[in-house]
Amino acid sequence: GEKMTREEKLFTYKGIAYPTTVCSPEIFKALESFKARSDDVILAGYPKSGTNWVGHILTDLVTTTAKNDGDETNGSNDEQQGEFPYLEIGDVDKYQRMEKMPSRRVIFTHLIPPNLPVSVFKNKAKVLLLIRNPKDVATSFYHFSNSLSPLPSYETFDEFFTAFMTGQMPWGSYFDYIFEWNKHAADENVMTITYEELKENRASGVKRIAEFFDLPLTEEEIQGVVKRSSFQAMKDNSQESHGAFGQTLFRKGDVSDWKNLFNEDQNQEMDKTFEERLAGSQLGAKLKY
Ligand code: A3P
Repeated sequence: GEKMTREEKLFTYKGIAYPTTVCSPEIFKALESFKARSDDVILAGYPKSGTNWVGHILTDLVTTTAKNDGDETNGSNDEQQGEFPYLEIGDVDKYQRMEKMPSRRVIFTHLIPPNLPVSVFKNKAKVLLLIRNPKDVATSFYHFSNSLSPLPSYETFDEFFTAFMTGQMPWGSYFDYIFEWNKHAADENVMTITYEELKENRASGVKRIAEFFDLPLTEEEIQGVVKRSSFQAMKDNSQESHGAFGQTLFRKGDVSDWKNLFNEDQNQEMDKTFEERLAGSQLGAKLKY
């Protein structure tokens, strides 16, 4: 078919850019009717913050708990009647099918709170908010965009950097994302975790997550989840879990890889924007790099 231009690859919904190939105005319309449950396990994060990593941890925790309760199918994304775990990606009938899914449903989303269905906050679903420092997110996003044809591609990092800083990205601006979620950072039903702290101590992160969602695992079971969520373990299993796409997804898994890509001007510009928009906020204080 004909190649889509960079502009055609994105469309706007409520002021935010989304990728045309996986989202649509029809999906967002249908999404308004989605009914969140208080026992849903929701993972929210800006793209490239480690969604698949933490999503894997969550799914593993929920599946292990379900198995302990004698339920062999619940909690596994593969077995959740084949639904793709990303809330805003799918066909318009997805939300009707999701109503029939047994608890606990594991759901991922890249949406900001104003674009989420109101029931998420009204029904007090628990949300794990995953954040990662903007320089590494930009680095990861740049490589990812250039590897996947449905996403915009860039000749140079400089070109990408401009798009990132002005929010011309799938799922919008990183800075707007953190700014909007910061309004919910103190909510009782929202727990924040950073990519960096999970890199530093996976066991303590996994334990915090299990406690937040009331998933009673033994120490041994926790260690199993920790072991299965190492970068190497997930990369080795990527063909099985994600097919060819796994090659693109499990790239480096490091902190500070931005140092191999940013020039000094870009570094300073991002520091300045960070300072202006996020530094004084609760989430901003957690973002270290
Ligand atoms: P890099 O591109 O910096 O390597 P998302 O899932 O939100 O798209 O995020 C992808 C990023 O998470 C990639 O970052 C990827 O390598 C990293 N990642 C995936 N699994 C990981 C793991 N087990 N440990 C650490 N990082 C992981």
